[in-house]
Amino acid sequence: MFQTKISTDIARAAALLRQGEVVAIPTETVYGLAGNALDDQAVVKIFEAKNRPTFNPLIVHTGSVEQIRTFVQEIPPLGERLIEAFMPGPLTLLLPKSDKIPDLVTAGSGKVAIRMPNHPLTLALLRSLDFPLAAPSANPSGYISPTTAQHVFDQLQGKIPYILDGGTCQVGLESTIVGWNEAGEALVYRVGGLSVEKLEEVCGQKLPILTHHEAKSPQTAGQLLSHYAPETPLMLGKPELLLSTYGREKAACLTFDSLIGDFPEAQQRVLAPDGNYATAARNLFAFLRDLDAGNYRIIYAEELPEEGLGRAINDRLRRARFENKLLGKAGGEAWEE
Ligand code: TXA
Ligand code: MG
Repeated sequence: MFQTKISTDIARAAALLRQGEVVAIPTETVYGLAGNALDDQAVVKIFEAKNRPTFNPLIVHTGSVEQIRTFVQEIPPLGERLIEAFMPGPLTLLLPKSDKIPDLVTAGSGKVAIRMPNHPLTLALLRSLDFPLAAPSANPSGYISPTTAQHVFDQLQGKIPYILDGGTCQVGLESTIVGWNEAGEALVYRVGGLSVEKLEEVCGQKLPILTHHEAKSPQTAGQLLSHYAPETPLMLGKPELLLSTYGREKAACLTFDSLIGDFPEAQQRVLAPDGNYATAARNLFAFLRDLDAGNYRIIYAEELPEEGLGRAINDRLRRARFENKLLGKAGGEAWEE
């Protein structure tokens, strides 16, 4: 057991990481649970603290493009353009790994997921270390990702020595993962904090999005079905319709930009009163946690238009749905992350 400390001291975080300890770090997407990616013992501690199955690989975080080059075999021309346009930022690239990256980090896969987070504290931390950081989201496996240091503390207190406090995550959704299939075509493996529209603008082409129906195994990036899930059952659709179909008693509503007129305000959260998807993304996980703590029978969440970050928000809400949890419990095709 640790006395978990929350503070902003980069040197302290770096010292712990050099000793092989696991430290929670802020990023612009969500908080990560970081350890020395080149040290198997540190990586094992990450899996343990999160209670994550070791078949599910970890993203490697670096502070420089030069480092990325040493961790992969090659970067396709399109990858170079994406690095140039979006790193540091909410983008992860899935590339053939070099021998430097241990098999434990990639769960035995020949590909490594790499990203350069855009957060001043974490960039400074990464640049002060001579090794990269393996880091999954800093939630217990299966739960919603944390977007504040307090979220991390609430769930991992005692399991890790230190949480580097970088405030509220400004993007609020995990990074978008792009990789290449065997035919060399670029694909979106996980929709996330960087919209597909922005990616396509830089690529000058359409990018197919892999859905979990197409994914052949849970090892495929971001494709575990039940992820980001609250304990409270959640249904997705039009909240007014869900209220009238499934009942108002002990229900909570999570809407996009406006309150539902004839329903108690205290039982509602509006993701983006300003109507911006970015605001909705930033609030999503905090509001889900908040509603999850409210002893509700059910959460009715509004489905957003499938555009911009609305697509990634819908993706997370779909994975949070009750049916997925049931499938998981029945030992069906659902996997928990
Ligand atoms: O924004 C983010 O990406 C956050 C912050 C902390 O950087 N990290 C994050 O990590 O969301 P995690 O572990 O919660 O989700 C990473 C996803 C998982 O679905 C994992 O299976 C996939 O990426 N992944 C990681 N490495 C992979 C690899 N080598 N091959 C295939 N999938 C991989
Ligand atoms: Mg995660």
